[in-house]
Amino acid sequence: MRILVTGGTGFIGSETVVELIKNGYEAVIVDNLSNSKEAVVDRIETITGVKPVFYQADCCDYAAFEEVFKKEKIDAVIHFAGLKAVGESVHKPVEYYSNNLISTCNLLKLMKKYGVHNIVFSSSATVYGVPKHVPLYETDPVESATNPYGETKVMIERILEDACKADKELNAALLRYFNPIGAHPSGLLGEDPNGIPNNLMPYITQVAIGKLDHLRVYGDTYPTPDGTGIRDYIHVVDLAKGHVATIKKLLSNPGLVVYNLGTGKGTSVLEMVKAFEEATGVHIPYTIEGIRAGDVAENYANCDKAYKELGWKAELTVLDACRDAYNFQKKNPNGI
Ligand code: NAD
Ligand code: UD1
Repeated sequence: MRILVTGGTGFIGSETVVELIKNGYEAVIVDNLSNSKEAVVDRIETITGVKPVFYQADCCDYAAFEEVFKKEKIDAVIHFAGLKAVGESVHKPVEYYSNNLISTCNLLKLMKKYGVHNIVFSSSATVYGVPKHVPLYETDPVESATNPYGETKVMIERILEDACKADKELNAALLRYFNPIGAHPSGLLGEDPNGIPNNLMPYITQVAIGKLDHLRVYGDTYPTPDGTGIRDYIHVVDLAKGHVATIKKLLSNPGLVVYNLGTGKGTSVLEMVKAFEEATGVHIPYTIEGIRAGDVAENYANCDKAYKELGWKAELTVLDACRDAYNFQKKNPNGI
């Protein structure tokens, strides 16, 4: 079975390609390398012994994208390709809307034209907006997002919903990721952000190797036990396995399905700092700063549905993720 993986050289995509290959699938990657490097393809081969087929192409370029469908017989698609930086999306909204929406519409047109009926989409917990309660359930309302990046996820979920209503043969899984962290245990694949990281884990790992001076903890006055923000951090290897389980589900012809992929457990910023120190033995100095605009106190998932219907649940811990993220950062101080 051959799976097209858009954005397959990125952080989550590359890890998913490894899991697909380990489970006997063939992977075809399409990526424009706007936020990843071609060297990732060789690293996947080093880990799995199999070199996935790779096309450097932009999913917004219909003609170039169609070449892939002409050459490869595709059975299902996992659609990771997209721009994902929340802050950047506020400054460059049109780029975000056009990249994320046009790539998805091109993909759906090509799937229809070439008779491909299964798609897994990388959505985000951001579609729930500001949580009115935790944990969040798939049945909770999808809100208008607080930034253009999040809005593209809300819109693409809607597009897929409508496409499934119109085409009874189409199966689409909306996977709402919580906070993916960690890296492949080999240290060959991991998160490679440009510039100063916005997200907590890559910031901590850069402090750990001395690239950054200290962590800035954004707020310690939230109504949480230690006052710092609580999130549901999921190891990227667990997340990748969730995609393999979802592909199997789509083959049962379920139409539109929605799953939270998280751990169901919240961890505060200070708990994460302690976990990192415990897992690696490296001290992380920090200062307490003001609250970051747009942040919420607490956000974590209920993941019972994924367990019940996919037989999938997260197995790795925050300690595993800290160890693997640090290993990757040490081996790749300047990225891949
Ligand atoms: P990433 O940036 O590492 O991977 C995305 C890949 O898509 C990159 O390799 C990039 O070069 C490629 N790409 C972007 N636009 C493209 C286009 N038009 N054509 C072809 N390739 C294109 O990001 P990631 O963290 O691996 O995220 C993967 C997906 O999961 C994204 O859709 C993201 O929005 C979503 N997501 C990520 C997180 C997270 O915290 N990392 C959380 C929720 C959802
Ligand atoms: C952010 C995005 C979200 C995206 C997610 C995963 C925002 C508002 N939200 O979520 O849309 O899906 O990343 O990529 O940007 N923190 C610090 N110091 C830091 C960095 C973070 O204290 O240097 C704290 C934050 O305040 C938060 C927690 O760590 O409490 C996690 O932050 P982060 O990793 O950026 O993820 P989210 O804010 O949950």
